[in-house]
Amino acid sequence: MDGNGRWAKARGLPRTAGHRKGIESVRTVIEAARELGVEYLTLYGFSSENWRRPEGEVLDLMHLLRFYLRSEIAELHRNGIRLRVIGDRNRLAPDIVSMIANAEELTRGNKVLNLTIALSYGGRAEIARAAAQLAREVLAGAVSADGIDEETFAARLYTADIPDPDLLVRTSGEKRISNFLLWQCAYAELVFTDTLWPDFGKRDLEDAIQEFRRRDRRFGAVNSR
Ligand code: IPE
Ligand code: MG
Repeated sequence: MDGNGRWAKARGLPRTAGHRKGIESVRTVIEAARELGVEYLTLYGFSSENWRRPEGEVLDLMHLLRFYLRSEIAELHRNGIRLRVIGDRNRLAPDIVSMIANAEELTRGNKVLNLTIALSYGGRAEIARAAAQLAREVLAGAVSADGIDEETFAARLYTADIPDPDLLVRTSGEKRISNFLLWQCAYAELVFTDTLWPDFGKRDLEDAIQEFRRRDRRFGAVNSR
Protein backbone atom coordinates (compact mmCIF):
# COMPACT_ATOMS: atom_id res chain seq x y z
CA MET A 1 0.00 0.00 0.00
CA ASP A 2 2.38 2.67 -1.23
CA GLY A 3 1.98 6.31 -2.15
CA ASN A 4 0.17 7.85 0.81
CA GLY A 5 2.89 10.44 1.35
CA ARG A 6 2.96 11.50 -2.32
CA TRP A 7 -0.83 11.69 -2.43
CA ALA A 8 -0.74 14.13 0.51
CA LYS A 9 2.21 16.11 -0.83
CA ALA A 10 0.46 16.66 -4.16
CA ARG A 11 -2.33 18.34 -2.22
CA GLY A 12 -0.11 20.33 0.11
CA LEU A 13 -1.27 18.21 3.05
CA PRO A 14 0.76 16.55 5.83
CA ARG A 15 1.76 12.91 5.22
CA THR A 16 -0.68 11.80 7.91
CA ALA A 17 -3.55 13.03 5.76
CA GLY A 18 -2.38 10.58 3.10
CA HIS A 19 -2.29 7.74 5.61
CA ARG A 20 -5.78 8.66 6.79
CA LYS A 21 -7.06 8.63 3.21
CA GLY A 22 -5.23 5.32 2.74
CA ILE A 23 -7.44 3.76 5.40
CA GLU A 24 -10.47 4.51 3.21
CA SER A 25 -8.78 2.56 0.41
CA VAL A 26 -8.24 -0.32 2.84
CA ARG A 27 -12.00 -0.42 3.50
CA THR A 28 -12.84 -0.12 -0.20
CA VAL A 29 -10.41 -2.82 -1.28
CA ILE A 30 -11.50 -5.29 1.41
CA GLU A 31 -15.12 -4.78 0.32
CA ALA A 32 -14.18 -5.10 -3.37
CA ALA A 33 -12.16 -8.26 -2.73
CA ARG A 34 -15.17 -9.76 -0.98
CA GLU A 35 -17.45 -8.84 -3.89
CA LEU A 36 -15.00 -10.21 -6.45
CA GLY A 37 -14.73 -13.54 -4.63
CA VAL A 38 -11.10 -13.17 -3.59
CA GLU A 39 -10.49 -15.68 -0.80
CA TYR A 40 -7.19 -14.36 0.56
CA LEU A 41 -6.12 -10.73 0.71
CA THR A 42 -2.88 -9.64 2.35
CA LEU A 43 -2.18 -5.96 2.92
CA TYR A 44 1.33 -4.69 3.65
CA GLY A 45 0.57 -2.09 6.30
CA PHE A 46 3.90 -1.44 8.00
CA SER A 47 7.28 -2.97 7.28
CA SER A 48 10.09 -3.75 9.70
CA GLU A 49 11.98 -1.00 7.86
CA ASN A 50 9.18 1.54 8.41
CA TRP A 51 10.27 1.73 12.08
CA ARG A 52 13.15 3.87 10.76
CA ARG A 53 10.76 6.69 9.75
CA PRO A 54 10.72 9.85 11.88
CA GLU A 55 9.27 9.16 15.33
CA GLY A 56 6.31 11.47 14.72
CA GLU A 57 5.23 9.60 11.61
CA VAL A 58 5.59 6.21 13.32
CA LEU A 59 3.44 7.52 16.19
CA ASP A 60 0.84 8.80 13.72
CA LEU A 61 0.75 5.44 11.94
CA MET A 62 0.37 3.54 15.22
CA HIS A 63 -2.39 5.91 16.26
CA LEU A 64 -4.18 5.27 12.96
CA LEU A 65 -3.69 1.53 13.39
CA ARG A 66 -5.34 1.69 16.83
CA PHE A 67 -8.17 3.75 15.37
CA TYR A 68 -8.61 1.31 12.50
CA LEU A 69 -8.65 -1.78 14.72
CA ARG A 70 -10.99 -0.18 17.23
CA SER A 71 -13.48 0.98 14.62
CA GLU A 72 -13.29 -1.84 12.09
CA ILE A 73 -13.08 -5.23 13.83
CA ALA A 74 -16.80 -5.54 14.55
CA GLU A 75 -17.59 -4.68 10.93
CA LEU A 76 -15.06 -7.20 9.60
CA HIS A 77 -16.62 -9.84 11.81
CA ARG A 78 -20.15 -8.95 10.65
CA ASN A 79 -19.00 -9.42 7.07
CA GLY A 80 -17.58 -12.88 7.73
CA ILE A 81 -13.98 -11.78 7.41
CA ARG A 82 -11.20 -13.61 9.24
CA LEU A 83 -8.37 -11.35 10.33
CA ARG A 84 -4.78 -12.46 10.77
CA VAL A 85 -1.76 -10.29 11.47
CA ILE A 86 1.75 -11.33 10.43
CA GLY A 87 4.96 -9.69 11.59
CA ASP A 88 7.04 -9.04 14.69
CA ARG A 89 4.54 -8.29 17.45
CA ASN A 90 7.28 -7.69 20.01
CA ARG A 91 7.82 -4.25 18.54
CA LEU A 92 4.14 -3.26 18.67
CA ALA A 93 2.58 -1.61 21.72
CA PRO A 94 0.91 -4.05 24.17
CA ASP A 95 -2.57 -2.58 23.67
CA ILE A 96 -2.26 -3.06 19.90
CA VAL A 97 -1.01 -6.62 20.38
CA SER A 98 -3.97 -7.48 22.57
CA MET A 99 -6.47 -5.89 20.15
CA ILE A 100 -4.97 -8.00 17.38
CA ALA A 101 -5.08 -11.19 19.46
CA ASN A 102 -8.72 -10.54 20.37
CA ALA A 103 -9.68 -9.83 16.76
CA GLU A 104 -7.96 -12.99 15.54
CA GLU A 105 -9.78 -15.02 18.16
CA LEU A 106 -13.15 -13.37 17.44
CA THR A 107 -12.94 -13.89 13.67
CA ARG A 108 -11.26 -17.32 13.70
CA GLY A 109 -14.30 -19.14 12.33
CA ASN A 110 -15.08 -16.68 9.51
CA LYS A 111 -14.80 -17.94 5.96
CA VAL A 112 -15.95 -15.26 3.50
CA LEU A 113 -12.54 -13.62 3.15
CA ASN A 114 -9.19 -14.28 4.79
CA LEU A 115 -7.68 -10.87 5.46
CA THR A 116 -4.06 -10.74 6.54
CA ILE A 117 -2.41 -7.51 7.55
CA ALA A 118 1.39 -7.44 7.59
CA LEU A 119 2.54 -5.20 10.45
CA SER A 120 6.11 -4.75 11.56
CA TYR A 121 6.70 -7.35 8.89
CA GLY A 122 9.81 -8.12 6.88
CA GLY A 123 10.31 -11.12 4.62
CA ARG A 124 13.95 -11.68 5.51
CA ALA A 125 13.26 -11.41 9.24
CA GLU A 126 10.44 -13.93 8.82
CA ILE A 127 12.78 -16.38 7.07
CA ALA A 128 15.52 -15.90 9.69
CA ARG A 129 12.96 -16.48 12.44
CA ALA A 130 11.80 -19.72 10.80
CA ALA A 131 15.44 -20.86 10.50
CA ALA A 132 16.02 -20.15 14.20
CA GLN A 133 12.86 -22.02 15.11
CA LEU A 134 13.94 -25.05 13.06
CA ALA A 135 17.44 -24.91 14.57
CA ARG A 136 15.90 -25.08 18.05
CA GLU A 137 13.77 -28.05 17.01
CA VAL A 138 16.80 -29.84 15.56
CA LEU A 139 18.77 -29.20 18.77
CA ALA A 140 15.89 -30.55 20.80
CA GLY A 141 15.91 -33.65 18.62
CA ALA A 142 12.34 -33.06 17.38
CA VAL A 143 13.36 -32.57 13.74
CA SER A 144 16.17 -34.16 11.75
CA ALA A 145 18.30 -31.70 9.75
CA ASP A 146 18.29 -33.99 6.72
CA GLY A 147 14.51 -34.10 6.78
CA ILE A 148 14.09 -30.34 6.36
CA ASP A 149 12.43 -29.55 3.04
CA GLU A 150 10.40 -26.64 1.65
CA GLU A 151 7.26 -27.83 3.37
CA THR A 152 8.96 -28.14 6.78
CA PHE A 153 10.31 -24.64 6.34
CA ALA A 154 7.08 -23.04 5.10
CA ALA A 155 5.29 -24.46 8.14
CA ARG A 156 7.48 -22.23 10.39
CA LEU A 157 6.63 -19.02 8.54
CA TYR A 158 3.93 -16.61 9.74
CA THR A 159 1.91 -17.73 6.73
CA ALA A 160 1.91 -21.44 7.65
CA ASP A 161 -1.84 -21.74 7.12
CA ILE A 162 -2.17 -19.26 4.24
CA PRO A 163 -1.62 -20.23 0.58
CA ASP A 164 1.11 -18.51 -1.45
CA PRO A 165 -0.10 -15.38 -3.26
CA ASP A 166 -1.11 -15.72 -6.92
CA LEU A 167 -1.01 -11.99 -7.51
CA LEU A 168 1.06 -9.21 -5.96
CA VAL A 169 -0.02 -5.63 -6.66
CA ARG A 170 2.39 -2.79 -5.97
CA THR A 171 0.96 0.72 -6.10
CA SER A 172 2.49 4.16 -6.68
CA GLY A 173 4.80 3.37 -9.59
CA GLU A 174 7.51 1.63 -7.55
CA LYS A 175 8.75 -1.61 -9.04
CA ARG A 176 10.13 -3.40 -6.03
CA ILE A 177 9.13 -6.23 -3.71
CA SER A 178 10.42 -4.32 -0.65
CA ASN A 179 10.82 -7.38 1.57
CA PHE A 180 7.20 -8.51 1.19
CA LEU A 181 6.47 -12.25 1.45
CA LEU A 182 9.82 -13.11 -0.13
CA TRP A 183 9.50 -16.86 0.26
CA GLN A 184 5.81 -16.96 -0.57
CA CYS A 185 5.97 -14.83 -3.74
CA ALA A 186 8.29 -17.26 -5.57
CA TYR A 187 5.67 -17.70 -8.32
CA ALA A 188 3.38 -14.73 -7.73
CA GLU A 189 2.40 -12.69 -10.77
CA LEU A 190 3.56 -9.10 -10.22
CA VAL A 191 1.37 -6.19 -11.26
CA PHE A 192 2.68 -2.64 -10.94
CA THR A 193 0.36 0.33 -11.11
CA ASP A 194 1.10 4.05 -10.99
CA THR A 195 -2.04 4.62 -8.92
CA LEU A 196 -1.24 5.94 -5.45
CA TRP A 197 -2.73 3.85 -2.66
CA PRO A 198 -5.24 6.52 -1.52
CA ASP A 199 -6.64 6.57 -5.09
CA PHE A 200 -6.73 2.77 -5.40
CA GLY A 201 -10.28 1.43 -5.62
CA LYS A 202 -12.41 -1.45 -6.83
CA ARG A 203 -11.73 -0.61 -10.47
CA ASP A 204 -7.97 -0.83 -9.89
CA LEU A 205 -8.31 -4.19 -8.19
CA GLU A 206 -10.44 -5.45 -11.10
CA ASP A 207 -7.83 -4.18 -13.58
CA ALA A 208 -5.05 -5.99 -11.68
CA ILE A 209 -7.07 -9.22 -11.68
CA GLN A 210 -7.76 -8.82 -15.43
CA GLU A 211 -4.04 -8.39 -16.02
CA PHE A 212 -3.38 -11.49 -13.90
CA ARG A 213 -5.84 -13.49 -16.03
CA ARG A 214 -3.91 -12.60 -19.18
CA ARG A 215 -0.70 -14.06 -17.76
CA ASP A 216 0.46 -17.50 -18.76
CA ARG A 217 1.49 -19.25 -15.56
CA ARG A 218 3.85 -22.17 -16.14
CA PHE A 219 5.57 -22.49 -12.74
CA GLY A 220 8.78 -23.36 -14.56
CA ALA A 221 7.17 -26.04 -16.72
CA VAL A 222 6.15 -25.78 -20.38
CA ASN A 223 2.86 -24.43 -21.59
CA SER A 224 0.08 -26.98 -21.40
CA ARG A 225 -2.55 -24.84 -23.15
C1 IPE B 1 2.70 3.83 2.32
O1 IPE B 1 2.77 5.14 1.89
C2 IPE B 1 2.15 3.73 3.72
C3 IPE B 1 3.05 3.17 4.74
C4 IPE B 1 4.28 2.79 4.60
C5 IPE B 1 2.44 3.02 6.05
P1 IPE B 1 4.13 5.93 2.04
O2 IPE B 1 4.12 6.62 3.36
O3 IPE B 1 5.28 5.03 1.78
O4 IPE B 1 3.96 7.00 0.87
P2 IPE B 1 5.10 7.62 -0.06
O5 IPE B 1 5.93 6.48 -0.60
O6 IPE B 1 5.90 8.56 0.77
O7 IPE B 1 4.33 8.30 -1.16
MG1 MG C 1 6.50 4.64 0.17
